[in-house]
Amino acid sequence: MRHLISPLDFNVEELDQLLNLANDIEANPQKYAHACAGKKMATCFYEPSTRTRLSFEAAMLNLGGQVLGFSDAGSSSAAKGESVADTIRVISCYADICAMRHPKEGAPLVASEHATIPVINAGDGGHQHPTQTLTDLLTIHSLKGHFDNLTIGLCGDLKFGRTVHSLIKALVRYENVKFILISPEELRLPSYIREDVLERNNIQYEEVIRLEEALPSLDILYMTRVQRERFFNEEDYIRMKDFYILNKEKMTLAPEDMLVLHPLPRVNEISTDIDDDSRAVYFKQAQYGVYVRMALILTLLEVEV
Ligand code: NCD
Repeated sequence: MRHLISPLDFNVEELDQLLNLANDIEANPQKYAHACAGKKMATCFYEPSTRTRLSFEAAMLNLGGQVLGFSDAGSSSAAKGESVADTIRVISCYADICAMRHPKEGAPLVASEHATIPVINAGDGGHQHPTQTLTDLLTIHSLKGHFDNLTIGLCGDLKFGRTVHSLIKALVRYENVKFILISPEELRLPSYIREDVLERNNIQYEEVIRLEEALPSLDILYMTRVQRERFFNEEDYIRMKDFYILNKEKMTLAPEDMLVLHPLPRVNEISTDIDDDSRAVYFKQAQYGVYVRMALILTLLEVEV
């Protein structure tokens, strides 16, 4: 039995297959409409979410399966003190697959060790978010056609942003990928990613503070929200929250074919005045998130269509 806990749980070939399957689902949705008939997915969300939970649920419903779960730890037995290990043992009796989001780093890993069904990490604290990475990879691959030779700007909260941590881990496996890390000093990429992932793999990267400086050389700009819920005090958050605002004027500095991605939710970091720019693909990205989660569910449940 297979789980998805870390973005490295699929190797490059397996990832290729998954992305191809997602593209086929996009092109031929009818072919997959009953693939998971009779199967159930549990979504156990101990932390707020709109997109991730609903895109999992939409993915399972699109496959003809059913969904159950909770979207608030307060309404689950966690509020009574139940451990994740016990909860997943019980969920394993009710569902065929489980997507779990948890504020504690490592909780989905613990769940996978006690589960008798596949467990998907739907985000664990400031750590990893592998299904957002699958979404980001499918978006990049579908719209750019390749991963090799890309210069990727990651902008905003690189310290607490789990989507950034996971995306870097996945992308360093491709040829000649370069990163420009754009953040204020206080929100720099943690050294365990800089040293253990970028430097260990001899990846070219630069750290800059000004977005304007990076924009002209980017193929992809990945914007992120300042992660308010992970700050120790509100004043620091308030000081940081509007550090970057991508707007029409800044977009004039960017190449014609640069893509702007954002895992969403957006707060202020992207002005709505660029939503109509053809380079702004963050809403398309949310749609790709459904296709890739459909492909993931089929793969983990070993359903052949
Ligand atoms: C991201 C997350 O939860 O980490 N959201 C998402 O899953 N689309 C990004 C964020 O919350 O900023």
